[in-house]
Amino acid sequence: MTPEDVANEEGWRQRKAAEKVQREKEEHQREEQRKKEAEAHAQWLKTPEGQKWLDEAPIREAEARKQEAAAQACQEAANWQRDARLLGVPSRLVPSALYGEAIRETPALLYSRQYVEGGDLKAGASLVLLGPASRGKTFAAAAVLRAAAGWGSRSFIHFPGFVGALLDPARRPTALEAAKTTRLVILDEIGGGYIKPGGLVEPLFEEIIFWRHGEFRPTIFTSNLTGDEFSAQFSDRVIDRIREWGPVWACGGPSLRERYHPAQSVQRPEAA
Ligand SMILES: Nc1ncnc2c1ncn2[C@@H]1O[C@H](COP(=O)(O)OP(=O)(O)OP(=O)(O)O)[C@@H](O)[C@H]1O
Ligand SMILES: [Mg+2]
Repeated sequence: MTPEDVANEEGWRQRKAAEKVQREKEEHQREEQRKKEAEAHAQWLKTPEGQKWLDEAPIREAEARKQEAAAQACQEAANWQRDARLLGVPSRLVPSALYGEAIRETPALLYSRQYVEGGDLKAGASLVLLGPASRGKTFAAAAVLRAAAGWGSRSFIHFPGFVGALLDPARRPTALEAAKTTRLVILDEIGGGYIKPGGLVEPLFEEIIFWRHGEFRPTIFTSNLTGDEFSAQFSDRVIDRIREWGPVWACGGPSLRERYHPAQSVQRPEAA
């Protein structure tokens, strides 16, 4: 090392030491300032104004929590609007939810809540919602799809259209694979004579059911069939698995598509 190098190194060391002293001084000043502010705040809290502020703290916190919950609900609704379209949920059923102001507590909805909150969804059980038209079966199934956000892949499959895809050699492999492996699947409107015994769809449908049942894939079926018709529609091997897999509910309640009412007789005011 030359004398010049030694001098340079010494200069560098002194600069670093001076910088360190300066940093410590600044940190000390900041600490002092923090202490002063904390003391001033503690004094202020003893004043009537400070006491009032303290008393109102729970109200402010509750309001902040309310706002945070509202912001989260808003974000969830926006996510669902987007997801519902991608998952294949019909537009009319996008307002589906397990809870909400405009949500009616139909039997189908209560069964769906129980399915989610009782742990069946997470356990990979099935849920079969049977019943006449407009009992809210598809709505309730879509509400489960919504509630399952963040729990893996989801899909809403309209069964009649799906059978068409299974019968088409070009679309069959993708349709079959998606119906088997997607984590949560709604098979809407199953039955109705789409699966002919000995036909092409029957073994494919069985393959889907056997696989999903075996792999604990949560699956919701909706159908207009009665319990007996449902049992008669599918092979014993399918029905046997569904019995083990999850609950089968007959959904009652009034019809929900009630916009049209027969004209009522109009009472005219008495002639004067
Ligand atoms: N819980 C609910 N709260 C509010 N509206 C609902 C509820 N359930 C269903 N609806 C509305 O009622 C109508 C019928 O519901 P949905 O389509 O789910 O009936 P469905 O039982 O599946 O009938 P179908 O057997 O004919 O398919 C829809 O317009 C839906 O938006
Ligand atoms: Mg339906």
